[in-house]
Amino acid sequence: MSTEAFSTREFRDALSSFATGVTVVTCLDANGEPVGATASSFNSVSMDPPLILWSITKTAYSADAFINAKHFVVNVLSAEQMATSNQFARSGTDKFADVEVEQGIGGVPTLPGAITFFECEAWATYDGGDHEIIVGRVKGLRSMAGSGLVFYRGAYATAEAIPTLAPTETNDVSHFIDNYLLYYMSRATHQMGEEFHQLVADDGLTTKEWRVLACLYNENSMSLADLAKRTMVDQTTLLELSIELQKQNMARVQQLDAGTKVTGTAAGQERVAHLIEDYQKAESNALEGLDSDASETLKTMLQRIIKNTD
Ligand SMILES: Cc1cc2nc3c(=O)[nH]c(=O)nc-3n(C[C@H](O)[C@H](O)[C@H](O)COP(=O)(O)O)c2cc1C
Repeated sequence: MSTEAFSTREFRDALSSFATGVTVVTCLDANGEPVGATASSFNSVSMDPPLILWSITKTAYSADAFINAKHFVVNVLSAEQMATSNQFARSGTDKFADVEVEQGIGGVPTLPGAITFFECEAWATYDGGDHEIIVGRVKGLRSMAGSGLVFYRGAYATAEAIPTLAPTETNDVSHFIDNYLLYYMSRATHQMGEEFHQLVADDGLTTKEWRVLACLYNENSMSLADLAKRTMVDQTTLLELSIELQKQNMARVQQLDAGTKVTGTAAGQERVAHLIEDYQKAESNALEGLDSDASETLKTMLQRIIKNTD
C-alpha cells in the first residue's frame, strides 16, 4: 500500500513523461530454455568496468530465470519492432514461437532486427522493492545504424533529432559560399538525385521518361506546355517522347484546338509504381530530422522561388 502523497497512478504517469528506448532482455532458464521479457528500465551504470542495469518485476514468470542467469543479452529494439515488444510483454505465452533467434553469449538467444545487442555476464542483483535490479557486465556488443523504438507516455514513438542550424558568419566575404542559396539548392538536388536517378537508370528508363511518367501518374492529363515546364524538357523533345510512350501504351497524346494534351495510362502508372515508392523513401531519407511542418514549409519556399524566377 502506498502511503505517499501521490497515488500509484500519479507515480506511473509521472514516470511515463521520461521517454525511454525499448529492449527485450533474453537469457536461458535452469533447463536451458529461452526466456525473454520486454523492458524499458534498461540504463547505463558504469563505463569502467562497463556495466548496465535493468529491473524485472518479481512477479514475472521469468524473474527467477533472470535473477539466476549467468548471462543475458539486452536486445535494443528498432522502430520496426513494436510487434516484438508486445510479443515479449505477454506473460505466460510461448514468446519465442515464430521467432528465428541467433545465439549470443553463453548460448543466450538474440533477436534479429534489434539495433544493438549488449551481451552481458551477471554482475549483481539488488532488491528494488517489487522489482529486482539486475546489473550486468557488458562482455560484447554489436550496434547497427537505425532508429530505436521509443516508449513515451504509455505509447510507442520514434525519436526524431531536433534540427539545429549551424551559425553562419554573414558579414565575412570569405564565407560568401555559406549564404549562397543557389549552392545549397544545387548540392541538395545533386545529392538527393544521384542515387535515385541510378535506380531509374537501372530500371531501364531515362530521367526524362521517368519525369514524364511521374507527372502523368494517376492517369493525370497535362498540356504539352505545362508538362514541358514540369519535366524541364523542351516541347519538341517532349512531343517525340510522348508519342514514343503512346506506342508502348504508357501515355495518350491528343491534338486539341487548345493545344496538345498528354494523358497517363494505367500501364504507364504500373511501369513507375515501384519507382514512386523508391522516390518516397529517398525523399523521407533526405528530409530526416525535419518534422512534417518544416518539410511542407521547405516545399512552399521552393515553390515561391520557382514562381519568382519563372
Ligand atoms: C514497453 C514495455 C516496457 C516494459 N518494461 C518492463 C521493465 O522494465 N521491467 C519489467 O519487469 N517489466 C516490463 N514490462 C512488462 C514485461 O515485459 C512483462 O511483464 C513480462 O514480459 C512478463 O513476462 P513473464 O511473466 O512471462 O516473465 C514492459 C512492458 C512493455 C510493453
